[in-house]
Formats: sequence, C-alpha cells, structure tokens
Amino acid sequence: LPAGPNEVGTAPIIRKKLMGFVGFANLPNQVHRKSVRKGFQFTTMVVGESGLGKSTLINTLFNTTLYPPKETLPPSAERPSTVAIESISADIEESGVRLRLTVVDTPGFGDFVNNDECWRPIVDNIEARFDSYLEQENRVNRQKIVDNRIHACLYFIQPTGHALKPIDVEVMRQLHTKVNLIPIIAKADTLTDEEVAEFKARILADIAYHNIHIFQAPTYENEDDEAIAEAEEIASKIPFAVVGSDTEVTTPDGRKVRGRAYPWGVVEVDNEDHCDFVKLRQMLVRTYMEELREYTNDVLYENWRTEKLLTMGVVQDSSVFKEINPAIRIQEERIMHEAKLAKMEAEMKMVFQQKVQEKEAKLKQSEEELYARHREMKEALEKQRLDLEDKKRRIENGRPLTPEGKTSVSHRFFNLWICLIDS
Ligand code: GTP
Repeated sequence: LPAGPNEVGTAPIIRKKLMGFVGFANLPNQVHRKSVRKGFQFTTMVVGESGLGKSTLINTLFNTTLYPPKETLPPSAERPSTVAIESISADIEESGVRLRLTVVDTPGFGDFVNNDECWRPIVDNIEARFDSYLEQENRVNRQKIVDNRIHACLYFIQPTGHALKPIDVEVMRQLHTKVNLIPIIAKADTLTDEEVAEFKARILADIAYHNIHIFQAPTYENEDDEAIAEAEEIASKIPFAVVGSDTEVTTPDGRKVRGRAYPWGVVEVDNEDHCDFVKLRQMLVRTYMEELREYTNDVLYENWRTEKLLTMGVVQDSSVFKEINPAIRIQEERIMHEAKLAKMEAEMKMVFQQKVQEKEAKLKQSEEELYARHREMKEALEKQRLDLEDKKRRIENGRPLTPEGKTSVSHRFFNLWICLIDS
C-alpha cells in the first residue's frame, strides 16, 4: 500500500518496464560532472620509524615536490628529520580534475630509550581530525564541511627481513581502528627478491596473528573480470615493497629514470620488476582513492562517532538518537571543558617555564660578563700597584726619576685613584 501523507514507511516496489528513454541513465554523468566541478580532497599520513624514507616516498608518490628535493639542498646535506607532525597541502590537477592533496608527515619513532606511547601524538592527531569533522557536522550551517580526516595511512616497516617488531605491532594496533592502514616495506632495494617474498609472508602472518586490520582491496560481485584481476593483483602485492627517490638517474642504456644508482646497477622506482611502487600508487590514487575515502567515512569515522556520542550520554534506539540524561551530558561536557582548561593551563605553564629559563640563562651570561670585567680591572690595578712599588723602590734606593718618570708616577697614582673610586 502506498504510504499516507504523514506516514514514513517503505513504499511497495512495483517492477515496471520503461516504454521509452527517461534519462536517469545519465545520472552517473551528472555525478561525474559535479564531482569534477567540486574537486576532491584526499589526506594521507605517513607513519614509521625514523629515517625509513617517508618524506622521500611522498615526493615520489605524488610526483610533486611537497618536500624540497634533495638536489635543492646544500651539497652533502641530508633532508632534516621530521620533528613534529606536519601537514602540507597542494592543489594538483590532472586532465581537468582537481585534487587537494594533504600529506601528514609524522616524526619517526623508535629512537628513544623508552618508546612507550610513541603512537600517542599520532592517534591524538587522527582523533582531533575526527573531532573537527564532528564539530562541523553539528553546526547550524553545514554548507562548507572541510574533510581533514586521514583517508589512508602508509605504515613504513623497516626492511629487516625478519618479522614485525613489537613497536610496529603496538603502533599498528593503536591505529587500525582509526585509519586505513597500508603496510609498506621501506627501502626494498636493500633486500633481494627472495628476502622480500619471505618478509612479506612473515609480515602478513604477524598481522593476522595480532588481529590487525589492514586495508583490503574490495571486490564486488557484479564487477568485470578485468577489475577483479586488478584487485587481486594489487592484493597480492600487500605489503608493498617500495623504493623511494626524488632524483633522476641514468640507466646503463642511457634512459633518465627516477631511481637509485648503485655500482651494480640502477633500481628504477617506476619499474614493476624492481619494486611495488607502481602498484602502491595504483591502489592509492588510481583505483581505490574513493574506496579509501568511503571506508573512512562510513566505517572508521562512523564507529568513532558512535563511541564518542555514547560516552557523551547520547544513545541510539531503534531509529533515532535520543539523549538519555541531560544531567550526565552536562557532566560530560563539564569534564571535557575542565580537561581542556587543564590542557591550556599545562601549556601556559610550559611557556612560562621556558621564558623563565631563557631569562635565567641571560642573567647568568651577564653575570659572567661582569665577573670577567671585574677580573680584568683587578689585574690592571694589580699591575699598576706592582709598577708603583717598583718605582718606590727605585726612589728609596736613591735613583732619581726622570722628569717623564715623575710625571708618569703621579699620573699613574691619579689613574689608580680614579679606578678605585670607579670600582
Ligand atoms: P624522518 O623524518 O627522520 O623520520 O625520516 P624519513 O622517514 O622521512 O626519511 P627521509 O625521506 O628523510 O629519508 C632518509 C634517508 O633515506 C635519505 O637519505 C633518503 O635518501 C634515504 N632513502 C629514502 N628512500 C629510500 C629507499 O627507498 N632506499 C634507500 N636505499 N634509501 C632511501
């Protein structure tokens, strides 16, 4: 039965054969045009231990210099290590399609004696992005929601050739419910093909053992054979063994390629026989960018949002969200507000302590300068005293002073007197 004017229900579905062209077959084109007009936003994060080539790979991946390439740095200078979470955005365009690409580079971890909770700043950053999105959704005006959520997280694994390190397991476990994890074997040019194959199998076994969820290339029932084969091929390469380089080298046969040159030959970044870089880019950019965005929105963000709202005292019954107890909600809000204030206070304290330390350092420096001046003057006076004593001795021994000597002695007495008064 058709739903009444005030009824909200599922209308019965009647199967009809169209008598002529209606036009809704054009819907995908409408969506396409609209998307091209609006452009796309994609945010990717790189995570992993220090010095694994995260910044280099970002440059390689998007074929753009988000980071200054090595050749622009002074000779023999290395690109500085990432010391804080940095995000860089670039508007790039390809065949008329605009993409606002943001890369979030995280400082490499694993260098400290105590690496407990090294994942904390990264998780906080991901959650802050979810928070910002939720806050925008709750605004009265939701016309311009900016999506800064992390859509893909490239996790760099050190090419040890053994197994996942405990620190990798820990960090991945903290991240896998909040981002699409894409594991990557960094600097794969340091391993042989056999070592890469064994290492991949070991990593996948470790990931399964620790119940870590990584992004899987999805397949759909009604897809054509080509798409299924592509998805299977991409899936077979995970974790991607990649080589990064933002410089061009010349191959023995004279081609200019992006790669790394060694005495035994050249490793080409864009050669599928040399590494999985092309497959990684295909997955991230060409084939699954939209899937990554969708999974982030529909699953990862949704789960986080539900949990967040539940902790704020909002529960979901069969069809609508309703607030159970406003008092609990107010209490929650108060706690959150207090936490925010405490955080601000801690930050202010830190700034204050820093300022005090700077002032103390300055005072110490001027104290040292004063001491040095005092020492110098004392030494000068001592020298003058010795001179005078010498002169006195000479006079007492009956050796008359020259007129210049007399003048000089009285002059020095006068100077000494002035110095003493000054000090
Ligand atoms: P942090 O910011 O300190 O965590 O470093 P990062 O992970 O961003 O590494 P970065 O890109 O700065 O590279 C560190 C060094 O590794 C540089 O000297 C790069 O030239 C080198 N490197 C980058 N990628 C590769 C690679 O695929 N193979 C080899 N052999 N070296 C690489």
